[in-house]
Amino acid sequence: MGKNEARKEIQGLRQDLRYHNYRYYVLDEPVVSDAEYDRMFRRLEELEAQFPDLVTPDSPTQRVGAPPREELGTVLHRTPMLSLQSIDTEEQFRHFAETVVTEVGESVTFVGEPKYDGLAVSLVYENGLLTVAATRGDGVTGEDITDNIRTIGAVPLRLLADEGLPMPELLEVRGEIYIPLAEFRELNRRREEADDPLFANPRNAAAGSVRQLDSNITAARPLNIYVYGIGAVTGYEFASEEEVIHALPRWGFRVDERNVLCRDIEECLEFYERLAMQRDELPYEIDGVVFKVNEFAAHDQMGVRTRSPRWAVAYKFPARQETTQLSDIIVSVGRTGVLTPVAILEPVEVSGVIVRRASLHNQDEIDRKDIRIGDTVIIERAGDVIPQVVKVITEKRTGKEKRFHLPDHCPVCGTAVLRTEGDPIVRCPNIDCPAQIEGRIEHFASRGAMDIEGLGEKLVAQLVSSGLVQHLPDIYELTTDKLVGLERMAEKSAQNLLAAIEASKQTTLERFVYSLGIPHVGVHVAGLLADNLGSLEAIRQASDDELVGIDGVGPEIAASVRRFFGEQRNRRIVQSLLARGVQFEKEETSSGTLAGKAFMFTGSLEKFSRSEATAQVQQRGGRVTSSVSKRTDFVVAGAEPGSKYTRAQELGVTILTEEEFRRLLESG
Ligand code: IVH
Repeated sequence: MGKNEARKEIQGLRQDLRYHNYRYYVLDEPVVSDAEYDRMFRRLEELEAQFPDLVTPDSPTQRVGAPPREELGTVLHRTPMLSLQSIDTEEQFRHFAETVVTEVGESVTFVGEPKYDGLAVSLVYENGLLTVAATRGDGVTGEDITDNIRTIGAVPLRLLADEGLPMPELLEVRGEIYIPLAEFRELNRRREEADDPLFANPRNAAAGSVRQLDSNITAARPLNIYVYGIGAVTGYEFASEEEVIHALPRWGFRVDERNVLCRDIEECLEFYERLAMQRDELPYEIDGVVFKVNEFAAHDQMGVRTRSPRWAVAYKFPARQETTQLSDIIVSVGRTGVLTPVAILEPVEVSGVIVRRASLHNQDEIDRKDIRIGDTVIIERAGDVIPQVVKVITEKRTGKEKRFHLPDHCPVCGTAVLRTEGDPIVRCPNIDCPAQIEGRIEHFASRGAMDIEGLGEKLVAQLVSSGLVQHLPDIYELTTDKLVGLERMAEKSAQNLLAAIEASKQTTLERFVYSLGIPHVGVHVAGLLADNLGSLEAIRQASDDELVGIDGVGPEIAASVRRFFGEQRNRRIVQSLLARGVQFEKEETSSGTLAGKAFMFTGSLEKFSRSEATAQVQQRGGRVTSSVSKRTDFVVAGAEPGSKYTRAQELGVTILTEEEFRRLLESG
C-alpha cells in the first residue's frame, strides 16, 4: 500500500474510532460491537506500524504506554482554579442566593450540579488537540498529569468537530476525575485477592491513580470524568454556564445529565433535596450540590474573593461521619493469613446504617493515628467500604485508654507471626491455620481457581467444622459416605459435588497457581508466572532474578512466591494435591517444529501483525510471552524495538530479525 492511500485510511479509521470512543465512554451508547471496534483499532495499529511517521499524538492508539517519569512537572494555569465556599444549612444557602438577587436583579438564574467527590483537573486544548492536563495544585500551578489523563477513555484527545460550533484556538476545560462506585468495589476486590492494600475510598483511589509516575498503572484503573466548566477560551464566546454545559458534550466531553437550570431559590432547594435523596443510589460519590450563577455577565459583576468566586457555593450534604467510643480492638486473620486489627465500636448510626466495627488496617495506621482502646473517635462511612476511623478526639481522653500492639503469635493457631522489614503487614505463615483454611478452600474452589461448582461458603464451613477437611488435599479424599452425613446433603447432591471435584483435577497451571492463594498472586500474576516460566517446577525453583525479570512481577511478588515455596508445609500440600491426581493441560506442545520454544516480540514487524506472528508460532507448538527472561528462546526484533531488546542482549537471548524469524517459520 502506498503512503497516500495509507494516510487516507488512517484518517478515516481515526475519525471512526474517535466517534465510537465517544459513543462508548461518553454517551454509554455504543453503536458497534467491541469486536468491530477492536478490528478497526488493530487495523489502525497495523497501518501505523507500517508508516510510523504518520503516527500523531491524538491517534486513538496513543492512549497508553508513556515511559515512567522521575517526577511530575508543574503547569501554570492560564486562569486560576478557584475553590468554592462551602455551606451546609438552608439558611446559609438563602443568604447566598438573596445576596445574588439583590446585586444582580430578579432575572438572575442558577445552575445546580452534583458536587463530585474526586480530583479536580484542568484540560488544555489547543486548536482542538489535548496538549496539557493538570491537577488543581494550589490553584495557580498544578502538577502535569498529561500522560496519565490521556489513558482515560472518556477524555477526548481531540475535540469532536461540530458544524455550527467553531473550534476554539484555546480551551481550558475543568472537571472532576473519579472512580464509579461499582468499579471501585471491583478494584478493591481484585486488590484484596492479590493481597494488595485496599483503597479507603473512591476519591483516594482516583487521586492516587491520577498522580502515578507510570501512566501504565493509571491506564489499568477504572477512571472516569465529568466536566463542569471552563477556564480560558479564545476563539469562542460563552454567555452563560448553560451554554457551556450544552457546548461541551458536542465537543465530545462527558457532562452530567443531572445538571439543572434553577429559576429561583425554591427550585435550587428542590434540586438539593432531590439529589440528597438520590445520593445513596447514584453510581458515583457526591458530597453536595454546587450552585453557580448562570449568566457570565453576573459573574463579572459579582467578582471573586481571594480563593473563591462570590457567584457560586458548594452546599454540602451532611457528612457521613459520627463520633463514638472505641471499646476494643480485636485481631482477625484473613484467608492469606494477614492479621488485621479491627476496632469494636459502640454501635452508632451513620446516615442510616448502624456501624459496629471499623478496620484499622495495620499497626502503622494505629500508631500514625495514635488510636487507643477506650478512645472517643470520629468514624466515617465513605464510598460504601468498611467504615474508617478518621481520627481520635484526644481532648476526650481520661488517661485510662490502653495502647494496642498486634500479637507475636497468631490468635487462632498460635504459630509465631511473620513480619517483613519495611512492610506493615503481619502474617500467620501456617497454611493449615484454622482461620485460614475455610477461606483457602473457598478460594481454591472458586470460579477463577479450581472451579469446583457447589463447594461454596456454607458447605466449606460444614466440611471444616465436621473435621472432614482440614487441609486442601482432603477435598480429594471426600466420598459419598462421608458427605451424606452432613446437613442437607442428599445422595444426589453428594454425587454432583464429587463429580465437580473429580472434574477440577484437570486444570491449567495458571489456575492451579492462582488457587494456592499465594499472597500478591492474583489471576493476572498467576498467568504471567505460568506463561513465562512454563511449568510448576520452574515456578517453584525460580530465583528472584528470574521472577523479577517477568514484566509485571515486582520484588514484592517475587519475594512472596519464593517465601511460599520456601515453606516445607506448602511444598507438602502442593505435592499431595498432585499425588491426588491434579494435573495440568499439556504445559507445552510436544509436536511441531517450534515445540517448547518461547518467543517474545518487540518493535513493529513489517510483514506480520503481532497476532499473526503469534498464531504462526503457536501453530508450530511454540509459545509467545509478553516479557523476556532467561527462559526465552528467541526475541524477534522489529523496527524500533523497546527496552526488552536491551534486556534480551543482557540476558544473552538469541535475537532474530524479522527476516530470520520468517525463515525459521519456513524451515523449522
Ligand atoms: S466548579 C469556580 N463544579 O469542588 C468554580 N466544582 O471547591 C470552581 N467540584 O476541587 C469549581 N464538583 O473539583 C465545580 N460540579 C462542580 C464540582 C466541583 C466537584 C470540586 C472541584 C473543586 C472543588 C471546589
